[in-house]
Amino acid sequence: MALTGPWPYPLWVAHRGAGKLAPENTLAAFRLGAQHGYRAFECDVKLSADGVPFLLHDATLERTSSGQGTASLLEWSALSRLDAGGWHSRAFAGEPLLSLDAIAAYCIGNGFALNLEIKPTPGDELATGRKVATEVARLWAGQAVPPLLSSFSLDALRAARDADARWPRALLLDTLREGWFDEAKALGCVAVVTNHKVMDAAVIARLHDAGRRALAYTVNDTETAQRLLAIGIDGIITDAVDRFSPAAASAQS
Ligand code: G3P
Ligand code: MG
Repeated sequence: MALTGPWPYPLWVAHRGAGKLAPENTLAAFRLGAQHGYRAFECDVKLSADGVPFLLHDATLERTSSGQGTASLLEWSALSRLDAGGWHSRAFAGEPLLSLDAIAAYCIGNGFALNLEIKPTPGDELATGRKVATEVARLWAGQAVPPLLSSFSLDALRAARDADARWPRALLLDTLREGWFDEAKALGCVAVVTNHKVMDAAVIARLHDAGRRALAYTVNDTETAQRLLAIGIDGIITDAVDRFSPAAASAQS
């Protein structure tokens, strides 16, 4: 655990840049999220065939780009020529895939916080965790607030820790499986990020009592946001950047 002192990340985190209002994980999405007042962003990072970290949620290219097949089989020179915006709407046609280098420059230049979800292509868990941690060391050198590295993959988190233990880590959980708390502790995670459906006051108390933080994804309705705020959630990852204003003290619709 590298974090000391107060939790440095904003409460409101824009999911994949700006959720669904712009093509996910592109610079256009981050810019739209920023226009809505967001100062923290979540995005998904994986590796190209030549080991370049870039943003993409799925293992395959079809849903969110003009490419086809498994993204990790292509080199960055080919990936960077794809259209990652036209699938969303004509206004975003030609929007490129985003390298970790590029999003680091954007976030550091604007003073924005980042939650890098390590989202390895199956089989690439160790290489992706290791590469993201070493690239963070290069890209965020001298910055006061490093990215929060999260993952559903225990192997990826372990590899990130072993490569560079300085960066704060968070375990992502879709369910509260047996042993989740011990897994998070063993990995030195500063936080646990759960599906909002399984986040409750007992989970938050358990994490807070252990000096850890509790975050939830993907919260898109006011009722859920208000429930989580009332029980002391530390971070809310949302698609609904046009519904929730980070500047407001509580969830507004
Ligand atoms: O990091 C929180 C959330 O993004 C995890 O789910 O599938 O949207 O990456 P997913
Ligand atoms: Mg994600």
